[in-house]
Amino acid sequence: MSRRNYSFAGFFSVNILGMYYMNFKIIAPPSHQMLGQKVAQLMGQDLIVPQVQQFADGELEVTLPVDADLKGKIVFVVQSTNPPVHDNLMQLLLLLDVVKQAGVQQIVAVIPYFGYARHDKSSVPGGKGSVAMVAQLFKAVGVDKVITLVLHAPHIKELFAMPIIDIQPIEFMAQYIKKHMPSLKDVCLVAPDHGAHDRVKKIAQVLDVGYILFTKERMADLTKIVAQIGFCQGTKAIIIDDMIDTGGTALNVCNALAEQGFTDIYGYFMHPVLSGYAAQMVQQSLFKHLYVSNSIELGNKLMPKCEVFDISELLVEQIRKEV
Ligand code: R5P
Repeated sequence: MSRRNYSFAGFFSVNILGMYYMNFKIIAPPSHQMLGQKVAQLMGQDLIVPQVQQFADGELEVTLPVDADLKGKIVFVVQSTNPPVHDNLMQLLLLLDVVKQAGVQQIVAVIPYFGYARHDKSSVPGGKGSVAMVAQLFKAVGVDKVITLVLHAPHIKELFAMPIIDIQPIEFMAQYIKKHMPSLKDVCLVAPDHGAHDRVKKIAQVLDVGYILFTKERMADLTKIVAQIGFCQGTKAIIIDDMIDTGGTALNVCNALAEQGFTDIYGYFMHPVLSGYAAQMVQQSLFKHLYVSNSIELGNKLMPKCEVFDISELLVEQIRKEV
């Protein structure tokens, strides 16, 4: 049922809607309030914002407002685990723990950007990936279900010891690109690595445009292009990936495309992690424009080349199915 339908349904339906929505609550910590507010507003609720106190040694204490009234409710806690990854991870775990203590019916952790998702395997031979352990932490604090958005790779879901829904909004991404390109003629989509291949192929099918795949090698944070598979004619290239972190992957591919004669190069990245100097590097690069989501609040990393798109509707679409 969509909220939009309800808004035309008159006073009686609005009251029914109120009762229907009373069954659940939306919570987001102060650091992730912007997205939380949008989600809560679309769900016709007031956002509950806990207090987060940090002590001199960096330890955190999370407390819920006294009037939070969570007993018997389905509670959606909205927060990405972006950098500073351990502060945000710990904050979220502490918040989920206090929510659990409040006698709720169910806890759904809505984590659009899930930090550690790339650690399905170790970066050193013989090492062990850590994403399964991180997922276990959420189970340990009583999370019943996790909702993520464009998780690094589909097989990571299998490493979770609880139900997990990973939203893969192919149609949304395709339509966004269509809206922002004056014409799709001359457009070529680009998968910057193997992990992005399937996603980019599906978007290219929806838009009926060609695509190229690059393969890369990674040594810790450093990446290098190994090969290019496919060829497509055009002047405009759009690199599509789940995230931009150090910017290494994106910038290598952007430079390679420029060398091949692409004049207008765009980036469409779901999660703008933008560690270190990535934002400045992208601003000074050959990228014409970057589109990133609000899964992570950019603050002073928001650069002129960057346009932020809103994912709250995507999250709400899934949340509505859970209540
Ligand atoms: C990795 O496979 C991901 O899909 C991204 O391509 C990668 O994490 C981006 O990282 P960076 O910006 O540091 O190259």
